[in-house]
Amino acid sequence: MKTLVLGASGATGNHAVKQLLALGGKVKVIIRSTSNLPNEWLENENVTIIKTNIDEISINEMATYIEDCHAVVSCLGHNINLKGIYGQPRKLVANAIKLVCDAIKIKNGPVKIVLMNTAGNRNKDLMETIPLVEKMVIGLMRLCLPPHVDNENAAEYLRSNIGQNHPNIQWVVIRPDSLINTEAVSAYTIHFSPTTSALLNPGKTSRINVGNFIAKLLIENDTWKEWVGKMPVIYNK
Ligand SMILES: NC(=O)c1ccc[n+]([C@@H]2O[C@H](COP(=O)([O-])OP(=O)(O)OC[C@H]3O[C@@H](n4cnc5c(N)ncnc54)[C@H](OP(=O)(O)O)[C@@H]3O)[C@@H](O)[C@H]2O)c1
Repeated sequence: MKTLVLGASGATGNHAVKQLLALGGKVKVIIRSTSNLPNEWLENENVTIIKTNIDEISINEMATYIEDCHAVVSCLGHNINLKGIYGQPRKLVANAIKLVCDAIKIKNGPVKIVLMNTAGNRNKDLMETIPLVEKMVIGLMRLCLPPHVDNENAAEYLRSNIGQNHPNIQWVVIRPDSLINTEAVSAYTIHFSPTTSALLNPGKTSRINVGNFIAKLLIENDTWKEWVGKMPVIYNK
């Protein structure tokens, strides 16, 4: 089983690739020419590396990359610097998800999508209420922080444009809270909705645990069935 991973050079994408490999999967990564990857991947026959800019890939080109993949993971995120936050491409994640979906429609075969998102985003399929003050801050974030809007739009594309009954596309949107780095996978819990305010009292989520959950979703059928079409929130225990 081969998975295409976008954002594989990132702090969480790296873990997702390692855990997929550890569970016996094969991985294809699309990275920028400037991205860094662990040296061992360069000589690993289970890793295919494609160097190109995601925002310059045509739908047909993406369809050829996806042709032999049963799943696509996006751990893309804007670099936390002025260029990453306010420069182009402002719709990095949402455009990549739409591109992948359009390419899957050409491929015309079943593909699973796992999108790394944020606990700061709400699942509109559920009655997720947040305090007024959080609503106001998120409104401000929408005005001032393009990456937040991008994350919201990427998840919303899957939730409302692809929906629950697409013939070829199934998806899970993972919502971690404040990301931290830890050495090893630790106990974590998965919830339908946030159990604490992502802004006022954020929980913690290790990137390595997000990678572990991504790999489990794609390797364990029961885990996929439990969360397909949902937006699970993940916290360290
Ligand atoms: N920080 C938090 O507490 C938090 C909490 C919840 C959710 N999130 C979300 O989690 C996601 C991933 O977080 P992370 O810490 O793993 O991110 P990260 O380490 O910054 O990784 C971002 C990935 O996106 C790629 N990327 C960035 N700009 C790109 C562009 N213009 N074209 C192509 N690829 C590009 C990066 O590639 P390069 O290596 O080439 O730069 C890298 O692979 C983000 O969307 C973030 O919003 C963050």
